[in-house]
Amino acid sequence: MLRDDMADTMITAQEIQARVAELGQQISADYAGQDLLLIAVLKGGVLFLTDLMRHISVPHAIDFMAISSYGHSTETTGVVRILKDLDDPIDGRNVLIVEDIVDTGRTMDYLLRILNARRPASLRVCTLLSKPSRRELDVPLDYVGFDIPNEFVFGYGLDLRELYRDQPFIAALRPEYYGASLQELLEGSE
Ligand code: IMP
Repeated sequence: MLRDDMADTMITAQEIQARVAELGQQISADYAGQDLLLIAVLKGGVLFLTDLMRHISVPHAIDFMAISSYGHSTETTGVVRILKDLDDPIDGRNVLIVEDIVDTGRTMDYLLRILNARRPASLRVCTLLSKPSRRELDVPLDYVGFDIPNEFVFGYGLDLRELYRDQPFIAALRPEYYGASLQELLEGSE
């Protein structure tokens, strides 16, 4: 496990679950009587998707995309690449993108552009987290779980060097450890 002095809890599991339930209710009301396709962005959006869909009462399908924008760095490189495309066409569908976090907005801007080109009936965005102070591109966010400050966060789907996606809370890495190796971040490795 992570050493205690490396990170602080930013959003508790209870706060996340309460907010996800609210978002699910809001989405259910907005899409009542309509077709709905949720598109989750791998890997970070997976925990959010599986919790969110259990609170969406309208029938809905799911599909997945994988996009690479960060590599293993805590800073954006601005490079966006499709690693896995959707299984099915989305023309004429009501599409809701389910994302873990919108930071600079570059990834979401790219996703919106390529998905819009496929002519969905509607295209909206639901993100668990947003860092408004980091935004470089003005992307429309229809549903936002939490606005957070400019800190590197992990847990609940988000990774720290590919680890800790399983944690039920969101934690912020202390800035003095942004450059630390995994070895340095792990308990008992001093
Ligand atoms: P953007 O293109 O700068 O908006 O970055 C979006 C992507 O960067 C997200 O889908 C995450 O994969 C990653 N990301 C941004 N901030 C964080 C963070 O604080 N922790 C973990 N991943 C992050």
